[in-house]
Amino acid sequence: MVIKVSTLFIIILLSYSASSQTSDWIAQLESTNLINPLKGDTKALVKGKKIYYQICAICHGRTGIGDGPSSKNFNPKPVDHTSDKVQKQSDSELFWKITNGRGDMPSYGQLLSKKQRWQVIEYIRLLKKN
Ligand code: HEC
Repeated sequence: MVIKVSTLFIIILLSYSASSQTSDWIAQLESTNLINPLKGDTKALVKGKKIYYQICAICHGRTGIGDGPSSKNFNPKPVDHTSDKVQKQSDSELFWKITNGRGDMPSYGQLLSKKQRWQVIEYIRLLKKN
């Protein structure tokens, strides 16, 4: 009986984590009120583009639509950065996601400095459609 209950528990846990991976990714609230110190800074944008090409493009693609060379290996797919889904989020929400990652999206809290994360967000804003 004890074994059965724990097996059931594991199954529930597994199906829960599987479904949470495909659901929309919501940034944690307490971290969504940061101010982007580099907003509209052209130098930051140029630096951000470099970082994006070097690090993010392999998955998200150079134009950000999610068609990078290794994008096919992932489920869910690397997000389209030109989409409303991404562009409607605040800089602060994007900052939080880039910092923490989820699943196949790496966490860049260690790899990129705060400044570099804001720089890359400046480039993501440039990718907005039209
Ligand atoms: C190894 C592949 C890979 C690399 C490299 C990568 N990403 Fe991602 N990224 C993903 C995947 C896959 C997702 C979708 C994750 C999910 O929804 O669980 C994602 C999601 C995101 C999201 C969340 C969009 C949303 O709201 O759903 C942001 C923002 C993002 N990536 C930015 C970046 C930035 C900036 C870089 C470079 C510094 C980067 N990514 C590098 C694979 C990658």
